[in-house]
Amino acid sequence: MSSIEIPAGLTELLQSFTVEVLRHQPGDLLEFALQHFTRLQQENRHKGGHGAVDRASAGAGAMGGGTPSRGVNFADEPVQTESENGEEDDDEEQQSGDTGAFSAPVLNRFTRRASVCAEAYNPDEEEDDAESRIIHPKTDDQRNRLQEACKDILLFKNLDPEQMSQVLDAMFEKLVKEGEHVIDQGDDGDNFYVIDRGTYDIYVKCDGVGKCIGNYDNRGSFGELALMYNTPRAATITATSPGALWGLDRVTFRRIIVKNNAKKRRMYESFIESLPFLKSLEVSERLKVVDVIGTKVYKDGEQIIAQGDSADSFFIIESGEVKISMKRKNKQEVEENDAIEIARYSRGQYFGELALVTNKPRAASAHAIGTVKCLGT
Ligand code: CMP
Repeated sequence: MSSIEIPAGLTELLQSFTVEVLRHQPGDLLEFALQHFTRLQQENRHKGGHGAVDRASAGAGAMGGGTPSRGVNFADEPVQTESENGEEDDDEEQQSGDTGAFSAPVLNRFTRRASVCAEAYNPDEEEDDAESRIIHPKTDDQRNRLQEACKDILLFKNLDPEQMSQVLDAMFEKLVKEGEHVIDQGDDGDNFYVIDRGTYDIYVKCDGVGKCIGNYDNRGSFGELALMYNTPRAATITATSPGALWGLDRVTFRRIIVKNNAKKRRMYESFIESLPFLKSLEVSERLKVVDVIGTKVYKDGEQIIAQGDSADSFFIIESGEVKISMKRKNKQEVEENDAIEIARYSRGQYFGELALVTNKPRAASAHAIGTVKCLGT
């Protein structure tokens, strides 16, 4: 019977590499790999080490500007939205600095961050005036469809029931025709959209030419960046079939979602700052990570990810323990309990990033040991 042996340090080594690839988006992967591993070897020699890299230092890269969004399918080809040399990164960092001013993250893990004009957000700037609340009446059928479409929307995850109900009240149905431009890159942001049905292409301009970098297939949401960071629309979204969207106006979005994000930032700031694998990020970049994460609690034994599934999320453990296991190779019919435990992670550690980087199915399963709280995208 064959068994899988994963050499000590291999996971960490590969993770450190994939994280750095995400961060730097190199044109020549092989050359980048060569430099990366040579640097690690030199650092290791310098420290007097010989063997495996520890998980913390191996992961001292970052998730970079890429934060995957649920329901989005990305085109294989990496695309750059700005210059090749990464100058815009520096500009942006100077603009946003470490002051907590926000600048837009690019959602696609395969593109560089768009250069944007950052605007500080004052959570108290938008008053909650009960009389100015927007309500679009809905039929029972509309309300049910809306609730179904919104149940996995990450930006809604941390809302309390009252906030969620205000959001649902304010949302309105928008029917779209095939070929319709829902959003045009460069425009001012008016609404945030949750997909009820239909397929949509995402175009980002590269040297003035729009390139399709992914699509949405009957689920997901878009149009949050311009509203969150007061920036022009970062992409063009076109319907590739007749469809229906739920729109949320800019004022309600900012009053509830952006305000809630400010609270989330305060809640998770120190935890995110303590994570070794995010250490090389600027403070403003770490805060953007907080903007796009949600929390989820798993019961003892609950499956968090399943080997072989397609991946659209990444997890950081806030509390509890997670068991990572792999099914044996060369076995046709394999029971779940036949899987071999290959790692155990706890607070501050992360998993689920590999499939996002490789665009391949999940390479292993993850289960909660006791109650587990994870932050995830
Ligand atoms: P916004 O900039 O408001 O409008 C266009 C939307 O496209 C953007 O918000 C995101 O929700 C979505 N989008 C999806 N992929 C990308 C990408 N790679 N870069 C920028 N925006 C993207």
